[in-house]
Amino acid sequence: MTPKTVIITGANSGIGLAAATTFAEKGHNVIMACRNLTKSHPFHQEVINKSNNPSVSLKELDVSSFKSIEKFSKEIEREFDHIDILINNAAYFNHGSDYKLSPEGIEITFATNVVGPFLLTQLLKKLLSGSDDPRVLNAGSNIIKHFLNPKKEIDFSNLRGEYVNDPNHSVYINYRNSKMALLMLTLKMAEEFKNDGIKVNSIQINGAKMSKETLQKVKPAWRIIARIQNLFFRPTEYTAKLYYDLCTAEEFKNQTGKHFNHRKEEMVPAKVNSGIMTDIKQGVGATVFPAYVLDKGTIDKVWQICEGLTELSMSKKS
Ligand SMILES: NC(=O)c1ccc[n+]([C@@H]2O[C@H](COP(=O)([O-])OP(=O)(O)OC[C@H]3O[C@@H](n4cnc5c(N)ncnc54)[C@H](OP(=O)(O)O)[C@@H]3O)[C@@H](O)[C@H]2O)c1
Repeated sequence: MTPKTVIITGANSGIGLAAATTFAEKGHNVIMACRNLTKSHPFHQEVINKSNNPSVSLKELDVSSFKSIEKFSKEIEREFDHIDILINNAAYFNHGSDYKLSPEGIEITFATNVVGPFLLTQLLKKLLSGSDDPRVLNAGSNIIKHFLNPKKEIDFSNLRGEYVNDPNHSVYINYRNSKMALLMLTLKMAEEFKNDGIKVNSIQINGAKMSKETLQKVKPAWRIIARIQNLFFRPTEYTAKLYYDLCTAEEFKNQTGKHFNHRKEEMVPAKVNSGIMTDIKQGVGATVFPAYVLDKGTIDKVWQICEGLTELSMSKKS
């Protein structure tokens, strides 16, 4: 096996940490892209020790910050001649928290979960296209099930500070919107990157056990719900193995623009208004996604918003 070079964002915790360990154990070169190096250092050591693979590096990356993404991409360009796999795993889901803005003044959930992965993938495109089998995987969530209700749409009106001081602001709703936008971005990016041979897919995560630290990030009322959910959630290693298979297995080599479930099956659009049975299928079996995912107007809007917001950073692309 030729070792692959893989970047995993948010690799100091949860699924990202488990994925870093899985790839390292299989002998690949792993770049753990984390926002806090001091906090992440012990986890970096843990991955090296567990895997007995010294080819694991820790690099600073805050995916909510354009400056940080630019700096990270430049560093990667200096050190590597290509990248085989990029896993956009990091996400902001601090339910119950106040409305916050990223360093560039973008609502923090959208900045971290949508615009950051867009910019990072764009800036790494050249290095990805240098691989003979480049694959990008975006971490999705079954929270998009809310869009099975045809009245629900992504709210784009709160992205630039409009809801500061609004007590009714909801990180949960922003998270729901961001994961839908990320899936739409996946489809569009797959199309845009086809000529470069870069495959872009998404995985729907139905739940993975959250660490004590992750539970602390959500406000107390949400923490109670999360603790109960945690009883039923799969260990992080389960999802890490899914990441691994989708990014390395021969059977997915030519797949692009797909949304996979926890059984690595391709999910298909649900019919609008298909009712309670669709909700049950989505909740239990996760075989369908809301038809809204394929709404061309919204897909283009997500893409244009990302392009508009990152214009300056994109102009520095080599
Ligand atoms: N666990 C679930 O039940 C579940 C369900 C559906 C989807 N997912 C998705 O699965 C992925 C992993 O989640 P998880 O459960 O493993 O959560 P987690 O343990 O909290 O991990 C999230 C990671 O993202 C990092 N992160 C957050 N903001 C960042 C930023 N601006 N820059 C760089 N890194 C940042 C965190 O770093 P810090 O440690 O520094 O905060 C952490 O390493 C996420 O995309 C999440 O949306 C999870």
